[in-house]
Amino acid sequence: MHKLEIKDLYVNIEDKEILKGVNLTVNSGEIHALMGPNGNGKSTLLMAIMGHPKYEIISGDILVDGESIIEMSVDERSKAGLFLAMQNPQTIPGVSNLEFLKYIVNAHSDEKKKLQEIFKDIKQGANELDFDLNMLKRFVNDGFSGGEKKKNEILQLKMLNPIFSLIDEIDSGLDVDALEVVSKNLNQVDLSTNAMVIVSHYDRFFKKVQPTHAHVIIEGKIVTSGGNEIVERINTEGYSWVKELAK
Ligand SMILES: Nc1ncnc2c1ncn2[C@@H]1O[C@H](COP(=O)(O)OP(=O)(O)OP(=O)(O)O)[C@@H](O)[C@H]1O
Ligand SMILES: [Mg+2]
Repeated sequence: MHKLEIKDLYVNIEDKEILKGVNLTVNSGEIHALMGPNGNGKSTLLMAIMGHPKYEIISGDILVDGESIIEMSVDERSKAGLFLAMQNPQTIPGVSNLEFLKYIVNAHSDEKKKLQEIFKDIKQGANELDFDLNMLKRFVNDGFSGGEKKKNEILQLKMLNPIFSLIDEIDSGLDVDALEVVSKNLNQVDLSTNAMVIVSHYDRFFKKVQPTHAHVIIEGKIVTSGGNEIVERINTEGYSWVKELAK
């Protein structure tokens, strides 16, 4: 059982105040839906939790199992069990996907395995995602289609089996079959030791990967929290009622 706590978090990007006092607690076994209109701080929250240097923590704290992680590097946070599937995954020219997967798996383990030793797992993960094996030989995300990049993020998640998965708009850009396959893979994550925070704009996706909790961010603050009824209300009514709450 693990706990991620965000306490009264204020985050700036280039001196612009983006998050203005976010509180959130996520326990193993929970799936948290994070919704909110464009540009209101969802990705900022996930990037700040993961430790992206551009996202400056002004005050507040982020704790994993009671220990503050805000002084930790991205690398250390990753080893502590945090994982971010990015809204816009980065391209790494010159590094093959296979080499990259080997590197991240080894970085999370005391054993240093050769590619042959983990190839079976990578192949199985790729097959479960209906991800063409040729994509493994290419440079990370280089020339990948939008949907291929998203599947590649989930392949990394599957190889690392994180404790806290932060998943940013994984459904955007996926065709209907890919959406089905990605949802199925997320539903296969063992929630007894894992938790997810999932950003999506769409009820359609949360019908497939059902949240236990839902939150709405408006102007850098979580203004309402609850269960799936929030996702459904946003689907039918939009955000005007939440914006009223934020006033
Ligand atoms: N380098 C920057 N300089 C100034 N403002 C920035 C910078 N980077 C991001 N922002 C602003 O931070 C705000 C929050 O952005 P964020 O990416 O967290 O939004 P979001 O809720 O994830 O939106 P979306 O649903 O469109 O993905 C936006 O207004 C964005 O323009
Ligand atoms: Mg975003």
